Amino acid sequence: MEIRFRDTNAAAIKTDLLVIPVREKKLDEAAIRALDRRLKGQLGRRIEKSKFTGAEGSILLYSTAALLPTAQILLIGLGGETEIPIDTWRKIAARARKEAAAIGADEMAFLFAPAKDAEPVAAAIAEGVLLASYQFNKYRSNSKAPAELKALTLFAPGLKRSAALQRAAERAQTIASAVFLARDLVNEPPSVTTARFLGEQAERHCRGRGLSVEVWGKRKIEAMRLAGLLAVNRGSHEEPRFIAIHYKPAGKAKKKVALIGKGITFDSGGLSLKPAKSMETMKLDMAGGAAVIAAMSCLPKLGFNVEVTGYIPTTDNLPGHNAQKPGDVIRYSNGKTIEVLNTDAEGRLILADALALAARQKPDYIINLATLTGACMVALGTQVAGIFSNRQPLAEDLIRCGQEAGEKLWQLPLVKEYKEHIKSGVADMKNIGAAHGGAITAALILQEFVDNVPWAHLDIAGPAFSESDSALCPKGGTGFGVRTLLQFWSAL
Ligand code: BES
Ligand code: MN
Ligand code: ZN
Repeated sequence: MEIRFRDTNAAAIKTDLLVIPVREKKLDEAAIRALDRRLKGQLGRRIEKSKFTGAEGSILLYSTAALLPTAQILLIGLGGETEIPIDTWRKIAARARKEAAAIGADEMAFLFAPAKDAEPVAAAIAEGVLLASYQFNKYRSNSKAPAELKALTLFAPGLKRSAALQRAAERAQTIASAVFLARDLVNEPPSVTTARFLGEQAERHCRGRGLSVEVWGKRKIEAMRLAGLLAVNRGSHEEPRFIAIHYKPAGKAKKKVALIGKGITFDSGGLSLKPAKSMETMKLDMAGGAAVIAAMSCLPKLGFNVEVTGYIPTTDNLPGHNAQKPGDVIRYSNGKTIEVLNTDAEGRLILADALALAARQKPDYIINLATLTGACMVALGTQVAGIFSNRQPLAEDLIRCGQEAGEKLWQLPLVKEYKEHIKSGVADMKNIGAAHGGAITAALILQEFVDNVPWAHLDIAGPAFSESDSALCPKGGTGFGVRTLLQFWSAL
């Protein structure tokens, strides 16, 4: 999709769909008045008859019947907040893209006159339009090629084109492709996305200036004593992989970040088998790993001044004949031991290896993303990820970056008192806690492995996968986390 900026007005522009964002109850804006004059007052009468007020996300579609160079006008509501949040632009742009698809538009023009923050708003609009066009149709026999939008024009009278605006638009394209990669990796069937496949995908997508990938096979994993990954992999036919991606910027890095993604390619629960219904979506369990691969894949293009090492421990969790058993004890490379009482609490077992490995490098931050607990979904639903951190400013930075990126994070506490719940009769800790507070006990177990390095854990079990279509994303993998990570790096 081509994104261009133009200095022109709404009545002059020639396009298939002309999008006019409208603040709530501000229906007398110049652009609308100008259009209405050319339409001999018909648009005004339509607005009056309709219930359209400019409430956030509401729309009014109007056909110009050849009285204007544009075929259709879409008024879209921005809501009534004095400062329109960046994410609102993203969402209404996605909504407009849906309308464009419905009328088979090749081109769309968007009135672009934000009060401030021109670049971030342009990026958000472009991102919304791009993200809304994602489809995963590879396995449908009757899929028509999706209606493609060839061009998006952001215009306003007196709009000054600038290199910064053009860069913002390009950045949006890069980010959207990364989100699509993460979605694709999650949406692929679990027998396609094996540990080996994930390693190959990392090698394929993470290359370019400063970016390199190492994929460790079972022998190397044994040599590195990644005991949690080996334990979870025991019930599988597929060999595990440990993916290490490294990015070194051209200049001196401001910060060193270790990034860890859970890469369970399918979570059956292992011998502590899940019920059938709970297994239906368990190909999602590598969404954290997918987000790490995808976010890192655009580092050479975006060229942030940050050194990033990504670690993705990956295997499926199956109850094969050699599977680990409840009661088994894992001894980690840092000497700590975990008694496995439930083989379905496997994410923390493989993340522990990676956290210990990352902590030894003494990075400035460790950030991990994992579809870790159903309990986090119970707490926050499917729109919000839980965030835990041993450093408050880090948590707050990430939450703010999430807000700008349109990914909601809500902090949950690391309740020291609950460490009582993970005491084991035979080992340093056990891998499950009490009946309640499961997201917190999982986080407390992870914390045992970060050695007091500044660390944040994002439990993305809820938002990683969507069971229904929305403007920005169809049913399936959402690519959650990619945008927050890129925002975080850009702000370092
Ligand atoms: N992958 C699941 C968590 C999950 C559940 C993600 C639903 C997305 C949707 C994780 O490995 C798991 O099974 N967790 C258990 C932990 C329990 C056994 C302590 C859970 O949440 O039930
Ligand atoms: Mn599990
Ligand atoms: Zn899992």
